[in-house]
Amino acid sequence: MKLASRHVLDLETMPAEDMKNILDTAESMKEILGRSIKKVPTLRGKSLCTLFYEPSTRTRASFELAAKYMSADSISIATATSSIKKGETLLDTARTIEAMGVDMIIMRHPVSGSSHFLSRHVKGAVINAGDGMHAHPTQGLLDMFTMRQHLGRLEGLKVTIVGDALHSRVARSNMWGLIKMGAQVCMAAPSTLLPLDLGDLDVKVYDRLEPALEGADVVNVLRLQLERQKRGLFPSAREYSQFYGVNQERLKLASPDVLVMHPGPMNRGVEISTEVADAPMSTIDEQVTNGVAVRMALLYLLLGGADE
Ligand code: CP
Repeated sequence: MKLASRHVLDLETMPAEDMKNILDTAESMKEILGRSIKKVPTLRGKSLCTLFYEPSTRTRASFELAAKYMSADSISIATATSSIKKGETLLDTARTIEAMGVDMIIMRHPVSGSSHFLSRHVKGAVINAGDGMHAHPTQGLLDMFTMRQHLGRLEGLKVTIVGDALHSRVARSNMWGLIKMGAQVCMAAPSTLLPLDLGDLDVKVYDRLEPALEGADVVNVLRLQLERQKRGLFPSAREYSQFYGVNQERLKLASPDVLVMHPGPMNRGVEISTEVADAPMSTIDEQVTNGVAVRMALLYLLLGGADE
């Protein structure tokens, strides 16, 4: 079944049935990842470009690996080593890439809304790999996939998101996706790290961590985005850790089978203790593996594999 849109820009506008379709397709893709030869011919002859204006390890590498596993060709353009450095505009860069016959552009950009803008000016598909503080839909999907694989469902789960939601495109994408899929979403953060528009979403907000952790099935810990903070929003990383750091002691308040997630990269010892990050309840490495499966599913559904 094809998706409603040829682009993946955010989970706010994606129908719940498309999310379910992507997660179901990712189950089949994960089976491919478990094989000794991780290669299927499904997207032979298709091509994509990862266009990254911000650093990335997981998202970019997993899209590129997903393309290789599906036999699509991929090229990669990063700011530091391209003509973007010489002042080429986003649209000229995109037109140049499309002129080479690329079917899809996967973009990360520091400006919120940039992927939506790009999608209105290109012929091919666009996947948003993170735009400013707005959305990171593929992270939201892989997080939901990981929860569903472990807990068998999303509906009715209590998912507590902890930390720097103000700067977090991951937090928004999790909230949009999880609410549509029927989960109960709680958010715990100092009030200075909460976005003003949270009131529009059905999210229970706490300014203390402990009550938000009570009975949680999933605790999704956000990275403290020190690089996006223009002014001090909390006294120090040490103090942040003291009040909002997720550690073993605090997790005793959560469900006994709680899953602890983190999109990465982590600030160990700040938002999450090393003990928790490396504990069996942590799904951090598995999220990375699942990221490849979810991105394979998206390439399959958007690049026509589903039609054949
Ligand atoms: N989670 C995430 O987006 O990681 P990268 O910045 O390494 O891609």
